[in-house]
Amino acid sequence: MHKPFTVLYKYLIRPLLFLFDPEKVHLFTIKLLSILYKIPGLHLLVSKMFVVKNKKLERNILGLTFENPVGLAAGFDKDATMIDLLVPFGFGYLEIGTLTPKPQPGNEKPRLFRLPKDQALINRMGFNNHGVEEAIARLKKRKSNIIIGGNIGKNKVTDNELAINDYEYSFEALFDVVDYFVVNVSSPNTPNLRELQNKEPLTNLLQRLQDRNNAKEIRKPILLKIAPDLTDSELLDIVEIVKAAKIDGIIATNTTVERQGLLTGPREIAAFGAGGLSGLPLKDRSTGVIKFMRHHLGDKICIIGVGGIMTPADALEKLKAGANLIQIYTGFIYNGPAFVKKINQAILNADL
Ligand SMILES: Cc1cc2nc3c(=O)[nH]c(=O)nc-3n(C[C@H](O)[C@H](O)[C@H](O)COP(=O)(O)O)c2cc1C
Repeated sequence: MHKPFTVLYKYLIRPLLFLFDPEKVHLFTIKLLSILYKIPGLHLLVSKMFVVKNKKLERNILGLTFENPVGLAAGFDKDATMIDLLVPFGFGYLEIGTLTPKPQPGNEKPRLFRLPKDQALINRMGFNNHGVEEAIARLKKRKSNIIIGGNIGKNKVTDNELAINDYEYSFEALFDVVDYFVVNVSSPNTPNLRELQNKEPLTNLLQRLQDRNNAKEIRKPILLKIAPDLTDSELLDIVEIVKAAKIDGIIATNTTVERQGLLTGPREIAAFGAGGLSGLPLKDRSTGVIKFMRHHLGDKICIIGVGGIMTPADALEKLKAGANLIQIYTGFIYNGPAFVKKINQAILNADL
């Protein structure tokens, strides 16, 4: 059933959508979906088309049971406005955020660009979001019980020295409405945020959250999302910190600030300006980080693999590199809604 839809998406829907500004298309698609789902039975029909149910896809990790290992990466549904709209596409879990304690507008527009020749995107959104409180209200009203990750960051106006307070605030606020947490210190679009990946600030931040977590009756898994641009020695520092703070896992990786080897011309690239690159050009680096981290972290720590999964084969490659779960963002935009199903079917076929 997904084949005709894939063809329709690739040759008609995507070319049409790609004529317009990417951020406007994103908002338009959300509106359209929420209107369409009011048609009785459509929600169910879409689920029938795209959800793959099979015990073999189940993953028991982080103390949770994921119906399948394919998740939606952070940034797509920052404000948790789309949870019930996205579930019928067959995801095993969704990650909301990055959320900050206070709402903030993000960077000036345009701030999201397509690089079709490279099957990539460049974004400098800058954590545009409506703040944790709004997200909490929405999460409480959601109908689906899909696993939700809460990805948290700091407000742009918060100095790095006080960043811990922002993370702590969102951690406490979201505690009862998400299933796992992601500490995002790896976005290239908030000035100086990535300095929080350094040994001392990162140790303090994770330790503080872990202390808060341990004070709860039942603790929630905490994962750290890392950049693909870290050196091996910086990655080894992170291995040490993850082990010392006893956090539950890492997400590898966020977008890259690298621009090497792109097919898109240098002038066009320069015109886009600063931002994080996602999609195909990120694939190999992200897989390399997963392999490196799996080797050094051992088997017990969860790794969520993300970055440049553009085909089902890319998804298998991430799992074989040592990822327990995977996430997609740019590949979902380029391949359309049948992509999750295709990946799940490939995982079943590969017996992974
Ligand atoms: C437009 C856009 C916004 C994003 N926003 C966030 C974000 O708020 N927080 C975050 O942790 N990652 C964010 N990301 C990074 C993705 O979650 C993912 O790590 C990255 O895009 C690599 O995966 P991909 O190649 O499948 O897109 C964003 C990515 C894009 C393209």
